[in-house]
Amino acid sequence: MAELSRREILISGTALGALGALGVASPARADSPSGDWTWPAGGSVAGSGSGADPRWVWDDVADPLLASLFDRGVIPEVNRLLYDWNHNDQPLPAGLPDDLRAFIEQARQLPSWADPAKLDAGSRFHTLKGNYIVVLAIVGAGMLATAIPKEARAVYYSAGGADLKDRVAKTNILAYAIRPRNAWTAGGTAVVEAVKTRLVHAAVRHLLKSSPHWPGPVPISQEDMLVTWHTLATYSMRGMREWRVRISSAEAAGYLHGLQVMGHMLGIRDEFMPATWDSAYAQSDIVLPRNMGPTTEGVELNATLRGMLAELTSPGGIDRHLVNAFARYLTGDQAADWNGIPREPLWDPVVRTAWPLLVQFREGLIGLPLVPAAAWLLDEAVKTWTTYYLTKGAQTKIVIPTGNRPG
Ligand code: HEM
Repeated sequence: MAELSRREILISGTALGALGALGVASPARADSPSGDWTWPAGGSVAGSGSGADPRWVWDDVADPLLASLFDRGVIPEVNRLLYDWNHNDQPLPAGLPDDLRAFIEQARQLPSWADPAKLDAGSRFHTLKGNYIVVLAIVGAGMLATAIPKEARAVYYSAGGADLKDRVAKTNILAYAIRPRNAWTAGGTAVVEAVKTRLVHAAVRHLLKSSPHWPGPVPISQEDMLVTWHTLATYSMRGMREWRVRISSAEAAGYLHGLQVMGHMLGIRDEFMPATWDSAYAQSDIVLPRNMGPTTEGVELNATLRGMLAELTSPGGIDRHLVNAFARYLTGDQAADWNGIPREPLWDPVVRTAWPLLVQFREGLIGLPLVPAAAWLLDEAVKTWTTYYLTKGAQTKIVIPTGNRPG
């Protein structure tokens, strides 16, 4: 039986449009003054904090290391050596620079608080509810990312911005690596992909500083990381609650735990990582509103993303109009407008009604006749997208970028 706290019931009472639940309905723009860091570190995985403000903290260990590797001109060789480093229990290849080897040996250790039983429950949850997680944490979160100015600009002006298809496939490598039962243990790949991603982010911080297009301070601060983490974790949990997905308390705790471990392995400090869903909701309500808004880069990226999804499913499947409607439904009107997603007078109301009914049918809450035909089109599309990105992800690797987007 699904367990619903009072807070979650309150959340479920909001108008659907997960963004309402995300607290982004009346946002502060990303560039507006936003006050002090008020989220209590007592609610973090660490249980206490240094008082640091995550807007001004990056990655103390990986950042200087990557800067030094760039200065020494060894990144292409590092990429070559790490290309076939795939599994959590695989020894590092010979020939890596000593400082990088020492870093990775340390960074690949799971945190002391990682709990195998909870990770197992989280993985079972991925198996049971994987299609909702794909819809929210991959499709929805991807659409939200383009309404986060710093993330949209970082993606746009980094090397990956020039080839979004490859970029999305690479990002999904990590999303899929964290799903299986052995994600974080021998034979799994999540540790490797997370450590590689931590290196990529440190490289992006180093590279974007020299891009003529990069406006602000060093990108991908701890707060930026938290923002993206919430678009995966908090947003997806709130969305599933909103849709009345059955989630036991052990499954909810396990799902959170896997995402906490992922955050730690990506270099998010434990003092900023929420310990419970309630502290995650509270933190999300602080960091998301002040970090979202429109950019021309985000609008362009979002159009490309929607084009990619439509291309995969039409002809014969759902077309661009339905993708627009689904994207608007998943992110809410505010972010959809920031993203320049056209309104679809025919499809917007259909999707708004059809999708939650499909979920409720799947969850055994309503009978088949109540599910509108449009729901099955969306269902098919989600399956196609999942298979495509699984296949595409298997054909590519996360590698450290050696430059910014050309031009
Ligand atoms: C690269 C995931 C936060 C910007 C990547 C990659 C993954 C990933 C898997 C490797 C794929 C690739 O190289 O394209 C995540 C996760 C995050 C997070 C799970 C938070 C929990 C952020 C934030 C920003 C960002 C906050 C910017 C503000 C980038 C950029 C790249 C990248 C620019 C490299 C693209 C390139 O190769 O040119 N991220 N990321 N990421 N990420 Fe993140």
